[in-house]
Amino acid sequence: MSTIKNILKKLSENSTESTPQEWQTLLEISDPQEMQSLYDAAYALKLDTVGSNVYFRGIVEMSNICTKDCYYCGIRNSNSNVERYDMSEDEIVREALWAHENQYGSIVLQSGERQDANFTDKITKILKRIKEESNGELGITISLGEQTEEVYRTWFEAGAHRYLLRVETTNPELYGTLHPESHDFQTRINCLDILRKAGYQVGTGVMIGLPGQTTADLAQDVKFFRDKDIDMIGMGPYIVHSETPLAEKAETINDEEQLNMGLKMIAVTRLVLRDVNIAATTALQALNPTGREMGLQAGANIIMPNLTDTSYRKGYQLYEGKPCLDENSTMCRGCLKGRVASIGETIGLDQWGDSPHFIKRNEKHQN
Ligand code: 5AD
Ligand code: FES
Repeated sequence: MSTIKNILKKLSENSTESTPQEWQTLLEISDPQEMQSLYDAAYALKLDTVGSNVYFRGIVEMSNICTKDCYYCGIRNSNSNVERYDMSEDEIVREALWAHENQYGSIVLQSGERQDANFTDKITKILKRIKEESNGELGITISLGEQTEEVYRTWFEAGAHRYLLRVETTNPELYGTLHPESHDFQTRINCLDILRKAGYQVGTGVMIGLPGQTTADLAQDVKFFRDKDIDMIGMGPYIVHSETPLAEKAETINDEEQLNMGLKMIAVTRLVLRDVNIAATTALQALNPTGREMGLQAGANIIMPNLTDTSYRKGYQLYEGKPCLDENSTMCRGCLKGRVASIGETIGLDQWGDSPHFIKRNEKHQN
């Protein structure tokens, strides 16, 4: 049996026996048939572990005001070409309730990173209002960067129950090349532990195909997800934004390779982590019109339709070529329903779609 077949068989049967070196071998596949067999194995395992329901998380990109200066990101503080916006409390709540009325079980609130009290208090108020005005029915994930334990706890009590904080890469040296010195790798990792302690379902992820990143780094990222007992994964290909410092290091990057590496990471993560939620992120669609469907077929089970009002969308370009800038929430809803149906999957409407991994861990603790 070929090495690839052997590794896939081992992973499909019992992932604990498999090693990061083997995951790296899978990430290095370049033969199209072998790539397909990787996606097929991940897809089969997805059906066994989380089923064929795709869950929608409507995402509201609340503001592009950001205190951080990550070298890869289009809305970094130093990018003076960006027109900054900050949605009002009413606008945000209105978009969340639209999602609820349209049977999205759950939403994600995301914005540039700020720690000031004006910001953190506003978020607390918004969370309480959404909980109340949706009769506690709408699930709320937040993705608002690094905060103190107290803030994380306040937001949890106000109604958020999941938190997404990508670590971007688990290689500290690589992290250092992507951020100014003031952005501390260890602080970011510690945040994941604090979030878990505060009671959240914890999501993290990395960018895939970064300048200087190796397949060994990516295999270690997957190991990190497993060791940290992560519940949800949101990761996607790195895409150049020309108004950022990293752009000059990224000249040789090729769209097709970025897409393939993104899909291979989804598949390997599904095979190793098995019962977690994994998002088919928008960045996949920036590289290929059917990128998100490809993500679902490589093992992802979550899609994040954009809820942001069309007038703000152009202001939230973390990378270039982001799709749906001229669309509105209704268009994205219809479009993504069609995309999910086109590959024979169904949408889990009106359900939170919690990570089965999280549910199982909690049951274990109760028994
Ligand atoms: N390409 C891809 N993803 C990016 N992000 C930021 N900039 C880029 C880019 N140029 C991702 C980061 C961040 C998330 C909100 O967006 O991973 O955590
Ligand atoms: Fe927005 Fe297709 S997802 S138009």
